[in-house]
Amino acid sequence: MNASLKISLSVVVAGTVVFGSAFLSTPQAQQLSPLEQGRAIYLGNCAGCHGVEGGGNGPAATGMTPAPTNFKTATPATLSDNTIQQAVLVGKGTVMRGYATILTASDINALVLYVRSLETAP
Ligand code: HEC
Repeated sequence: MNASLKISLSVVVAGTVVFGSAFLSTPQAQQLSPLEQGRAIYLGNCAGCHGVEGGGNGPAATGMTPAPTNFKTATPATLSDNTIQQAVLVGKGTVMRGYATILTASDINALVLYVRSLETAP
């Protein structure tokens, strides 16, 4: 008798929206290009607040004061690489926490690249 079993796999990516609880760091991330590495870390750690596309409107951002920085409208003049790096390292003393104990220097460099890539300003 052929009982057909349908097995549906649901992949639950737990914790990706709960800020601070999920992160993708080494070694998996290091097999990726720096931009891909930055994207993976961003989606795991930052998108909950800053939004998947960087618009500052992630699911956790509702009602947040100050609002998460909008990376789409940022430019190197308004948000320098160094500012991004420092914000990620030490935080801003707000819900924007520091990641120095979580992310490596390589991760943070990759994040700077990725955050830059989200800019849509001319
Ligand atoms: C819990 C929500 C939250 C998460 C998660 C979060 N941020 Fe932020 N971020 C903020 C908020 C809110 C601000 C606005 C500035 C402030 O808090 O003073 C901010 C500001 C920033 C700034 C601008 C800092 C400046 O000096 O202007 C950068 C860059 C930044 N975040 C990068 C990141 C990156 C990269 C990640 C992931 C590693 C991340 N953030 C994760 C909430 C968050």
